[in-house]
Formats: sequence, C-alpha cells, structure tokens
Amino acid sequence: MAEDEPNNGAPGTQAGPYEGPRATDFTPEPDHSDDPGYITRTKFLSTVAIAGGGILTAAILVPVAGFAVASSLRSEKWRWVDIGPASDFLQNAPPYPNAEPSTKIGEVASLAVAGPDPEADRRIYVMFGLTNPSAKPVPGPNESTAAYNTRFAAWAAGLTAADMDVLAIWNRCAHLGCPVAYAPGSQGFICPCHGGAYDARGLVTGGPPPRPLDRLDLKIVDQSKQYSADQIAKGQDRLTLQQAIAKSSNPKVRVQVGKAYSISQEQQAFELHAPGEPVTGTLANLYPFT
Ligand code: FES
Repeated sequence: MAEDEPNNGAPGTQAGPYEGPRATDFTPEPDHSDDPGYITRTKFLSTVAIAGGGILTAAILVPVAGFAVASSLRSEKWRWVDIGPASDFLQNAPPYPNAEPSTKIGEVASLAVAGPDPEADRRIYVMFGLTNPSAKPVPGPNESTAAYNTRFAAWAAGLTAADMDVLAIWNRCAHLGCPVAYAPGSQGFICPCHGGAYDARGLVTGGPPPRPLDRLDLKIVDQSKQYSADQIAKGQDRLTLQQAIAKSSNPKVRVQVGKAYSISQEQQAFELHAPGEPVTGTLANLYPFT
C-alpha cells in the first residue's frame, strides 16, 4: 500500500494499520566477547562434538585394547574332574563282529563339568569314536544294499581300539561362543547362532568359526593303583584306550577331564583361546584387529 493511500481496513485485518514490532524496537544482545566464562553457542557445539568424538573413539579402542591385554594375561585355573566310570563312555567298543550300518560305533555323551574357574562350568561332549570318521564306508552310487552291508560288516569287523579315541569337546562355539549341539543325523556339531558346522571331532566344516571346537584334556585312570604327583605330571597314570576297554567293567577305572585348550584344524594343540580368535595363520597374529 502506498504511504498516501487512505487506510480503509479495520485494525487487525490485512488492510488495517501495521501493529507488529518495528526495526527501531530491536535491542541488541549484550556483547560477551571479552568474558572468558561465557559459553557461546559455537563454543557449546564444539565442546559437544569433541566430547562425542572422544566417547566414540573410546568405545572402539577400549574393547580392542582389552582383548589385546586379556590375551596375554589369560590363564585358566583347572584341576582334574572325575566324570564317571569308564563303562559309562566305552560301552560300544570294538570288536564289532556282526555289524550293520545302523550299529553304533562308539558313543557320544553330553554332560556338564564343574571346575574351579568361573568359566569352568561348561557342558562337554565326550566322543568315543573313530579317529578318522571319514573311514566309515558309505554306499557306492550303484551299490546294492546287500553289497554295502557286506562291505560295512567286513570293515567294522577289522576295527580295533587303535582306530578309536576318546575326546572331551567343549560345546562353546569357536565363533562367538553360542552353545553348539550334536546332531546325530549329520554326526557333527551345529551352532544355532550363525550356522557354524563342525564334524564329530569338532573340526570346522562350514560357517564362520575361525577354528575348531575347544577340547578338555581327558584321561582314563585306574584308581585302584597309586601314583606319585611326579608320575601323574608325566602322564604315567594314563591308561591306553586298549587297556581302558579291557578294564572298563572295573568301577575304579575312571574318566577324568582337565585343562581346556584350543586346537587348529590339523588338531595341533594351542593355549585356550577366546571365541573368535584364530589359532594359526596371519589372522592369528593380527587378532583382535581382524
Ligand atoms: S556363534 Fe556359532 S556360528 Fe556364530
């Protein structure tokens, strides 16, 4: 509207006189530039950004440093734990004179083991089975059932204690620690969390685990005999599997489990590692930065 036009509108309407604040009403903000204690908006936002960055950096670096330090400090207390008579674990021992493919070759037992260390309350699988599970015959593509059964029976009849061993396998997945379960159908261990798969000896067959399942040292001893601490330290109290099978009806022949350890895919023993840690290869040296 031009300055000299008459104002015909009522106050408060679009045509009415302007009643809002005017530039001349503006009161300037006080200047705090020489007050060191005064926090400007820019200063406040910079402080928040620096503090947030610090928290994020700490969130990344503290666990990494913790892992690195914990690896070198980790050492587990352990003792031998009696888990029962040998007869509980060696029931299906060789010889297998008239075996069929459904005949149980060895045993799988699952039990909880309590130890002195907080982490020693663990569930283990005691595997009494073939040292080389892949030696078990499978049906040929054009083989008749009768021919396969005959071939299986001949193979089983030749098995001795030397073809078997006993392992204590910890059910803690080597990926992120979920409990694995034994699946009799696939004769291996399956992890429900991310699909990790292991064979009957705990060796990795698929999925993300960076190493096989950990084991606990296992020995079979005859408690009717006395051994000195030195003999025990040297392993002279350990029965061979053949001796243990021959004596397994004796309730004083016992199975004991001891120190937990990790293994490589080649079943070489290593100090116990945490879930996620590889034991061999370049990545083992770079952990936890991998
Ligand atoms: S925790 Fe077992 S596969 Fe991830």
